[in-house]
Amino acid sequence: MNTLEMIKNQKPLLWVNPSKLSSKKSLSKQFLTFTDIKDAEDRLQRFAPLLIKLFPELEASKGIIDSELIKISNMAELYSAEETGLLSNIYVKADHSLAVSGSIKARGGFYAVFVIIEKILSEHGISVSNLLSKSFDDIRSLFASRSLVVGSTGNLGLSIGLMGRAFGLNVTVHMSLDAKEWKKKKLRDIGATVVEHESDYSEACRVARTSANESRGIYFIDDENSTDLFLGYSAAASMLLRQLKKKNIIVDSDHPLFVYIPCGVGGAPGGITFGLKHIFRDNVHCFFAEPVEAPAMMLGLVTGKNSSVSIKDIGLTLDTCADGLAVGTPSEFVATSMNTLLDGCFTLEDNVMLNYLKEFYDKYGTKIEPSAAAGFAGPEYLLNSETGKRYLIQNKIDPEKITHIIWTTGGSMEPEEEFQRNYRASP
Ligand SMILES: Cc1ncc(COP(=O)(O)O)c(C=O)c1O
Repeated sequence: MNTLEMIKNQKPLLWVNPSKLSSKKSLSKQFLTFTDIKDAEDRLQRFAPLLIKLFPELEASKGIIDSELIKISNMAELYSAEETGLLSNIYVKADHSLAVSGSIKARGGFYAVFVIIEKILSEHGISVSNLLSKSFDDIRSLFASRSLVVGSTGNLGLSIGLMGRAFGLNVTVHMSLDAKEWKKKKLRDIGATVVEHESDYSEACRVARTSANESRGIYFIDDENSTDLFLGYSAAASMLLRQLKKKNIIVDSDHPLFVYIPCGVGGAPGGITFGLKHIFRDNVHCFFAEPVEAPAMMLGLVTGKNSSVSIKDIGLTLDTCADGLAVGTPSEFVATSMNTLLDGCFTLEDNVMLNYLKEFYDKYGTKIEPSAAAGFAGPEYLLNSETGKRYLIQNKIDPEKITHIIWTTGGSMEPEEEFQRNYRASP
């Protein structure tokens, strides 16, 4: 079977990107630059003191939203005996527990809200730091006549909703059919409007897009096409660099970094990859993880059709327990960016995802949602599949010298009964 047939037949696979260029070449062709990432980092710093005021739990992190890098040697047992010895350097980047909204979408989502907040503030001739001396009521009254609109499978809506409402903005979230009930409830509880769609994520985004009107103060955050979201995610790279240095983890051509990130529309993993490639160049290898039922990015890249092909065109249904990854078409702009930058993608079945979720809980007592468990399949593919082994040989990589990072992307806010349902559903 060729790659496309395997995708159509929902066969799990690792795909290595044949169009990848050296990071130097690829990054020189991208329309966003390292300066844009630096601007994003500066904006996050500007908002940090205000975030401590709005969310006192951020005092300890000085208002910066980041997660821990946690060594998970016990998980090495999960992978076949053959490679267990090769997995001494395996970590989780714990975005499942990011402050305030508990998922990777906080990184881009909060950042996109900050961009809009600064736009509105500039109309009033004031800066973010001016808000520090204002009362909560005064801050909220500044934004009360403005609205945010977003289409989401759940976690982006939650991030935009929580941050937007903290500033007093009105927030409307268009939720796709796959979105979980508890995410809708949480949003309604904080005063956001939730519009439920009997259709998929692309349709929810389309309706959200048409309802926006900036001249009337209704701002659309476009998960399918937002450079703001992308840059917010990209800032994670320098945070990771600091953590690696603190742990004395060397990243160079002899000691490469392999990063496995769950992918839906592509903004979060794409932005992070973009940031990581700027910092670590060809010494970082980035792979996206998708469900066999919704390999939107893999299909877009394999066919070269990006967002003009949907997984529905090849008979797949989006029927996956990984609600955050239940996306039929990738972001056009992210797919274009990843075409020459990304190292590869892999797919996995829901059962496998649920099994990783269970194992991670059994070994570490950590609760994640199904989407967040997808990256765990990365080391297995790399070290144990023919494609993975070939990749290592072709790139002259000694598997013992790899540092693996599995990006766990959501789950800390999930209600207990929801987690238990997923735990019990694992094989
Ligand atoms: C838990 C989780 N992981 C990963 C992703 C993928 O992010 P993106 O859609 O930007 O690719 C999402 C998206 O909502 C998510 O909720």
